[in-house]
This record gives sequence, structure tokens and C-alpha cells, in this order.
Amino acid sequence: MTRVSFVEAGGKIHAVDVESGISAMEAAVRNNVPGIDGDCGGAAACATCHVHVDPSWIGKTGPAREGMEKDMLEFAEDVQETSRLACQIKLTSDLDGLILRLPEKQH
Ligand code: FES
Repeated sequence: MTRVSFVEAGGKIHAVDVESGISAMEAAVRNNVPGIDGDCGGAAACATCHVHVDPSWIGKTGPAREGMEKDMLEFAEDVQETSRLACQIKLTSDLDGLILRLPEKQH
């Protein structure tokens, strides 16, 4: 199992335990975390799963990948250095404890 904490812009924390191998977007949607819609089903084609990786974790998740992910983030609001599409973060046991912060709103 991998634990991920989604932190709403207002500070509310949603900690979820999920099986390894799914994406952070799937983890959020399956657990009804508000603010992650995942409209495209994880194809990096909608940007409704935009998150800010907590700075202490960006070394492990890595930054947004060149190509589809970075291109799609151009349509998101409040994009930062630590912005990622949650559907492109695969939850491995290495990411147990991951903290993802939700932007104030998705586009
Ligand atoms: S779910 Fe659509 S870009 Fe992540």
C-alpha cells in the first residue's frame, strides 16, 4: 500500500491508502478527493488533475515530463515549478507518504 496525502488549498488533508501501481489521479478519484476530476481518464489530455508536489517530494516524483504533460500544464492555472498532472505520477512504494497540494481551482 502507498499512502498519499492530498492537501486542499484551505489546508484540509485527505490521506488515502491505495495499492501501488495506480496513478495519483486514480487514488484521488477512487477516494472522492475533491478538486481532482480526471476528466480524460488519465491520458494527460485535460489538466483537471493538476497538483503541486510538496517540495520535499519533488526529488522523488521528478518534475513534469517534456511533451504531453508539460504542454497540458500550460492550460492549468497557478502552475509552479512543482506542478504535475496527477495522472502521470505512478504510485510506487518509493512514494509512500507522498504529499500533493491541490491548486485553488482547476481550469
Ligand atoms: S486526468 Fe486528464 S490530464 Fe490527468
